Amino acid sequence: MDAVVVYASQFGNTRQIAEAIGRGLGPDARVLEADGFSPAQLSPGSLLVVGSPIVGWKPLEGLGVWLDGLVPGVLDGVRTAAFDTRVKLFIHGDAAKKIEQALEKAGAERAADPTWYYVAGSEGPLLDGEIERAEAWGRELAAA
Ligand SMILES: Cc1cc2nc3c(=O)[nH]c(=O)nc-3n(C[C@H](O)[C@H](O)[C@H](O)COP(=O)(O)O)c2cc1C
Repeated sequence: MDAVVVYASQFGNTRQIAEAIGRGLGPDARVLEADGFSPAQLSPGSLLVVGSPIVGWKPLEGLGVWLDGLVPGVLDGVRTAAFDTRVKLFIHGDAAKKIEQALEKAGAERAADPTWYYVAGSEGPLLDGEIERAEAWGRELAAA
């Protein structure tokens, strides 16, 4: 199965989660920054996982631009899942659901509900156990 994890990250926490999901997906999974990745490379049946920190109640600006650039139909037949990272004590807003909505608008089929991972403060670190939880999610997505 072709599997790609695409992410944006300011302080590296979302990158660490993306890499953990990639490890869970398996040795052939690619983990890439959204900038420069064209979803037109994906074929039907591929799995695309997309993640971002929540910044001001929405995805990081660069990922938002990437999502806005998705042409309707470009993800036809592609299975997708979305995640975000957020600070445990903030009133969060949401990025994962907004990512999912944009992916579905481009034709994607939802492979799993949106999910999230916690950081201790704006710059991190990730809370204990979040890397392991992300790896486990990757394994679940690969098995689904
Ligand atoms: C300017 C700014 C705005 C933020 N806004 C939110 C927010 O609305 N909700 C939230 O839960 N976290 C918010 N955060 C915390 C980020 O989600 C946190 O910095 C992020 O998970 C770190 O991921 P990264 O290391 O990949 O950049 C904000 C952080 C910054 C710097």
